[in-house]
Order: sequence, then C-alpha cells, then structure tokens
Amino acid sequence: MADDDTTPGGTATDGLTVEDLTLIYGSGRRARTVVRSVSLRVPRGRTLGLVGESGSGKSTIGKAVVGLLRPSAGRILLDGQDLAGARRRAAVRRVQLVSQDPYSSLNPRLTIGRAIAEAIDPGGADAGRHFAAIARSLETVSLDPAAAWRYPHEFSGGQRQRIAIARALAVEPEVIVADEITSALDCSVQAEVLNLLLDLRQRLALTMVFISHDLAVVRHVSDSVAVLRHGELVESGPAATLYSNPTHPYTRHLLDSVPRFAE
Ligand SMILES: Nc1ncnc2c1ncn2[C@@H]1O[C@H](COP(=O)(O)OP(=O)(O)OP(=O)(O)O)[C@@H](O)[C@H]1O
Ligand SMILES: [Mg+2]
Repeated sequence: MADDDTTPGGTATDGLTVEDLTLIYGSGRRARTVVRSVSLRVPRGRTLGLVGESGSGKSTIGKAVVGLLRPSAGRILLDGQDLAGARRRAAVRRVQLVSQDPYSSLNPRLTIGRAIAEAIDPGGADAGRHFAAIARSLETVSLDPAAAWRYPHEFSGGQRQRIAIARALAVEPEVIVADEITSALDCSVQAEVLNLLLDLRQRLALTMVFISHDLAVVRHVSDSVAVLRHGELVESGPAATLYSNPTHPYTRHLLDSVPRFAE
C-alpha cells in the first residue's frame, strides 16, 4: 500500500530496506541457503513484525540486518545507504540487536556499566569516561544508574532485558531488531518489557523489526507483518489486513494455530 510505505513527511527510502536478501551458512558442500531472496521494507519510525515457524530464518535475517552476517546476495539499506558500503562500521552502529536471552548476551564477568561502555566504545571501553551516557541509558529504561556497578546475575530476567535494551539504546541507534525479546520472560514481566519498548519506540522514533513466535504480540506492536517459511517470504502487508484477511494458506495455518485468532 502506497501510504504505508513512507513515514509522513519522509521519502520512499527513509528507514530500513532489505532487498533480495539471500543468506547462506557454511561453504562448499556444507553450504546451506537459509534465507532466499527476501525483501522487506520498514519506513522510519514504523515496526515490521517478522513471523514464521522455528527454523524459518527469522534470527538469521535479524543478524544480517545488524551486520553480524554478511549477505550472500542482496542488500540492506538504511535511508537508502547500503550498510555493507564504505562507512559500514558507522552505519552498523545505527542498527542494534536485542535478543531473547539477555543472560547469554550480557557477559557475566562485566559490570553493567562496562557492558554498556563496550557498546558505546568497542575496544576502548572506559565506564568512567562514558558514565553520563551509561546513566542516561539506564534511566531511559527506568533503572537506577547505580545498576552500572553491579553484575548481570544480580538482576531478574525482566531487569536484564531492560539492561539489554539500555545497552542497545546507548549507541543512539535508529533501528532496533528485537528478536524474541519477551519469550524467556514470565507473562507479567513480558507485558512490562513490551510496554517499555513501545514507549521508547514512540519517544525515540525508532524503526523496529520485531521478531516473535507470539502472533498476538506481533499484531499488537507491528504496523506491517512479514511471514517467513523455510527462508522465503510467503506474505507481507499491513498488520490489520494480514490478520483479518490472510491470503496465503501458510499464514492462515499460523493464525489458526493461535487459539485467539481461530474462528
Ligand atoms: N550458525 C549456523 N550455522 C548453520 N546453520 C544455522 C546457523 N544458525 C542457524 N542455522 C540454521 O538456519 C535455519 C534458520 O535458523 P534461524 O535461527 O534463523 O531460525 P528462526 O526462524 O530464528 O527460528 P526460531 O524461531 O527457533 O528462533 C535453521 O535451519 C537453523 O538450523
Ligand atoms: Mg530465532
């Protein structure tokens, strides 16, 4: 839909564009194509939900978008600029990943402050020098800046996910890839983390790729939704249309398997 493709006041290239992305793990006889010619478009400030069964390639796409995996073919563009281009390092910082398990993504031996400092200044992490930015990012997620001196194990799962969000935001990204960020959390904590993310998205005008198994949550947070199956895009469109009127049998199958959406 034309009016869904741009941010009000923006241009057609504002935000994140994934063009014909193919991702292959391994090489030679072990090469395995996990994502095939996937194209996605997330206008600035909007959220795209990425759904599909386990193993369909959601996290693999997420990793490519944040620069952890190099595209085997295709391009990833931010505001029309190729993220694999000359200013890749700077560009990649504009896109940050928050993943499912903050306990494994936070180094248990680093204080929270140090972990955030490393995100801000990879290699030269000096928590003292970056203290103001660290404190600000912790306050953004409603944590006491004193958390900077503590270690991951001293926090609950929900708090650790807040810390992971704070770390991602500390570099002032424009795009957040949220990969199953609530699936390891208890129900009540899930809602809390989700509401925080929605609030931040609004305040910071973040562009977001929201990966989740939970189709109800995806509908709640997404402007548009893309459905992946075996590494291929089977359907995408505005969230309301896709949920009320799925055209692909696989999308219908996914929705039917969620009790809330079955008629
Ligand atoms: N490092 C890797 N090397 C080889 N194959 C991999 C690697 N990581 C993932 N895969 C394979 O790629 C496919 C897609 O995996 P991916 O993790 O992207 O799926 P997903 O949609 O995120 O699944 P889930 O919902 O379980 O998180 C799977 O078949 C997986 O086994
Ligand atoms: Mg995954």
